[in-house]
Amino acid sequence: MAKKLKVGFIGIGGIAQGCHVPGWQALDYCEIVAAADVNPKTLKAGGEKAGIPEARLYTDYKKMLSEVDLDIIDVCTPNCIHKQPTIDAFAKGCHVIVEKPMTTSVADAKKMIAASEQAGKLLMIAQSMRFGDDALAMKRWVDEGLVGDIYWGRASYLRPRGVPAWGAFIVKELSAGGPCYDLAVHILDLCLYLMGHPEPVAVSAAMYLEISNKPSLMKHDPKKYTVPEELAVGFIRFANGATLSLETSWAINSAAPNNGIMLAGTRGGIRNNPPTLTREEAGLLVDSTVQVNPDRGIASHSEEIRQFAEAVKNGGPSPVPGAQALMTQRILDGLYKSAQQGKEVKV
Ligand SMILES: NC(=O)c1ccc[n+]([C@@H]2O[C@H](COP(=O)([O-])OP(=O)(O)OC[C@H]3O[C@@H](n4cnc5c(N)ncnc54)[C@H](O)[C@@H]3O)[C@@H](O)[C@H]2O)c1
Repeated sequence: MAKKLKVGFIGIGGIAQGCHVPGWQALDYCEIVAAADVNPKTLKAGGEKAGIPEARLYTDYKKMLSEVDLDIIDVCTPNCIHKQPTIDAFAKGCHVIVEKPMTTSVADAKKMIAASEQAGKLLMIAQSMRFGDDALAMKRWVDEGLVGDIYWGRASYLRPRGVPAWGAFIVKELSAGGPCYDLAVHILDLCLYLMGHPEPVAVSAAMYLEISNKPSLMKHDPKKYTVPEELAVGFIRFANGATLSLETSWAINSAAPNNGIMLAGTRGGIRNNPPTLTREEAGLLVDSTVQVNPDRGIASHSEEIRQFAEAVKNGGPSPVPGAQALMTQRILDGLYKSAQQGKEVKV
């Protein structure tokens, strides 16, 4: 049998244990052989879940990289700790899959891409929403020409009360931002992917923090809430004339909203919740909706891992390359800059 691809984790907490470990374990040509995590308790639990021998568990990822021969590094650390482990893993000749958001600045994203190119190894950003059944259906409609040219879209991911009470999500020095980095990054990536990655040129945004830093029914500690926003609204202009409205929140005084993306094209429109194509047929405006796997949240992570492993095995290309995530990062940087300056900014 051919040699298995050896996988090591940097950060083996929530998303790693819940979604990435099962994703790798489902592939008979991959094996998880090592992990690093600064939290010894998490490291032990993650190691047990992944079946890693104790001798291959590290609290210092650099030690793991120097002692273990690895083909793939899976980076599942908080947002602000994505860049350096990725660059260090490339320096050791590994392929890297890194959780979303890619990182927290355009400058860092460029350094990660440069490290990947210098090493000649694949970089994938784990934009899991692309790999769900609904994304598959919408992409097929776009690729078959049923949507035409997409000229406008709306992307909503609003939680009325949903500030994460676990992990590092609300801590600025570890996560940099709130729902923009946690939620908007998913719907932005999905919209750009379906729109064919048009060049973003300008962004206008406003951000609010009114509820999450005060006592409420939510479980997080409001005193620890240091990320700048709980609600962000934005408007993005692309070089081809297309535009996208964006709204995202962890907390807002509103009824549970109808979340999802909606893209309008010259021949038809698509939305994802449930996946629906709207177009003229026989003189009528008709909605065609497809059935999706109700378990798609989990399936999408496994599919993302499977597609990366296949790309590594077959010599590429990366299913979510750094260059595409860099576009998303330019928009995210633009959202924060515009909200700070109170005016539209170039990206
Ligand atoms: N795709 C998705 O749907 C999805 C869902 C949840 C989280 N995420 C992303 O995954 C990342 C991790 O989130 P999580 O929920 O698993 O958080 P988590 O806090 O549960 O896990 C992160 C782990 O990284 C470890 N860590 C921190 N610094 C480290 C370092 N220098 N070296 C090694 N380990 C280190 C922590 O101890 C922790 O165990 C975030 O970037 C988040 O945005 C993605």
